[in-house]
Amino acid sequence: MGDKGFTTAVLRWFALNGRELPWRGIGDPYGIWVSEVILQQTRIDQGTDYWYRFMERFPTVEALAAASEDEVLRQWQGLGYYSRARNMHAAARQIVEQGGFPKTIEGLKALKGVGDYIAAAVGSIAFGLPAAAVDGNVYRVLARHFGIDVPINTTRGKHAFEALANELLPLDQASAFNQAMMDFGATWCTPRSPRCIDCPVAETCEALRTGRVNQLPVKEKKLKVQERHLTYIYIRHEGMTALRRRPAGDIWQGLWEPLLVEDGPMPDLSCPLTLLASGVKHVLTHRIIMADFYLAEPASRPNLPAGYQWVNEQEVTDYALPRLIERLLAKLLHE
Ligand code: ADE
Repeated sequence: MGDKGFTTAVLRWFALNGRELPWRGIGDPYGIWVSEVILQQTRIDQGTDYWYRFMERFPTVEALAAASEDEVLRQWQGLGYYSRARNMHAAARQIVEQGGFPKTIEGLKALKGVGDYIAAAVGSIAFGLPAAAVDGNVYRVLARHFGIDVPINTTRGKHAFEALANELLPLDQASAFNQAMMDFGATWCTPRSPRCIDCPVAETCEALRTGRVNQLPVKEKKLKVQERHLTYIYIRHEGMTALRRRPAGDIWQGLWEPLLVEDGPMPDLSCPLTLLASGVKHVLTHRIIMADFYLAEPASRPNLPAGYQWVNEQEVTDYALPRLIERLLAKLLHE
């Protein structure tokens, strides 16, 4: 089965198994647009309720444009991603000013909040424009059937899958094909338990042939935000304190810090430790720091690990300090 065969089989599957959704077949670009914006973030069953309520309150793009932002946000309540509602409201006003819905992909993309996906979905379903709408379902179907392991959450992946979807798209049946691919991904070629047994394109499925159905699609791991716990002890002895320069190959390279205990036991400084602040959160690009901060006032100068230097307390702020340390020290030093 060539690419033509795949498209034909998916369209035939859709004719028999496509879902009945309230905005299907209405032809109204406004109602279709509202459904696509809602479904970008919500499952079909919950989204359907919202769609009915939204359409009842704002039955036309003119009604939406005439509403206040507060009113629109109230109707959106519970869906989350409120910027989408704000964008939709702004776009409704753009549409009314233009005297109607734009009927080209470029025109649609010029609307606030309308990107590649929404433009292709609305353009194809409402106007029959030949543009492939590639959502998460479509990525999965294509990655599996054609055995593509380019990560779907990268620019390269987005381009590769969009190009392939556009190759497969029958120019005169863009609406049916796009909706077929989405329904097929949502109900047959599902993430966890795909129905390969009665799949209409199983014979040509590369993932099935090579035993990779569960490995595709591939997602690039985002750097996980690590949490790191730092305990700092500010030592005060006869107007002096201890600082060290942070080593290379770690956060805050070259900046200065008080006595740090990261993992391992607290040092014995032969004096009580006074907790000044605990659980202070500091967000860096790929890390979240949680810091505790103590004051120690020993009777004699303690022995410290290598690298710490004694400096005059009054000169502490002359050292380049991480923002977190600056914040922790500010209170102590300005008392
Ligand atoms: N999910 C989002 N939009 C959809 C559509 N038009 N058809 C099926 N599933 C969808």
